[in-house]
Amino acid sequence: MSLNIAIWASGNGSNAENIIKYFKDKTDIANIRVIMCNNKNAFVLERAKKYNVPTFVFTYKELNETDMVNNKLEELDIDFIVLSGFMLKVPDSIIRKYADRIVNIHPALLPKFGGKGMYGDHVHEAVIAAGEKESGITVHYANEHYDEGSTIFQAKCPVLPDDTPDTLAQRVHSLEYAHYPEVIEQVLRELAGK
Ligand code: GAR
Repeated sequence: MSLNIAIWASGNGSNAENIIKYFKDKTDIANIRVIMCNNKNAFVLERAKKYNVPTFVFTYKELNETDMVNNKLEELDIDFIVLSGFMLKVPDSIIRKYADRIVNIHPALLPKFGGKGMYGDHVHEAVIAAGEKESGITVHYANEHYDEGSTIFQAKCPVLPDDTPDTLAQRVHSLEYAHYPEVIEQVLRELAGK
């Protein structure tokens, strides 16, 4: 059984593109039906176009105060949501509706360096400022609180003495590209009972 996937992203979208590419030839497992985005200028929308993946753009207000996003999920018969650099909180109603069917990737080793305001380069700055010797990625289920759902997978990388947020971000991105699609596939296979 193939599951219908919505990827939610807010910005650059390099992970979203990597996931689209990965599942292109795996339509027996997953169909990437849509990129959902809260920023009409986000580069992820260009990336989606390149792969002919439909896009759906909404504002913060539309997400939180209307049924627009939920209606789109219904219309496209979405089974599973992949958060991929999505910077807003997912409304509780959608979290409840998709219990254990929303995964997120965080660019650090949760539970450290998570929570509100901890996204993208802010995370890497905080990791360096804290003098951490290692960082990494965490894939977890999304729940009502930022970065607090149960962990599915972690991978680590070193933090080097001369790292800047940029160099650390690159190392963490490599881990994301190497692992996130495979972890998603594994979760989908379990869900589909394959
Ligand atoms: C990724 O590093 C992702 O882990 C992070 O944002 C980046 C998005 O990059 N997500 C968070 O910080 C969520 N709290 P991308 O748009 O190029 O995939």
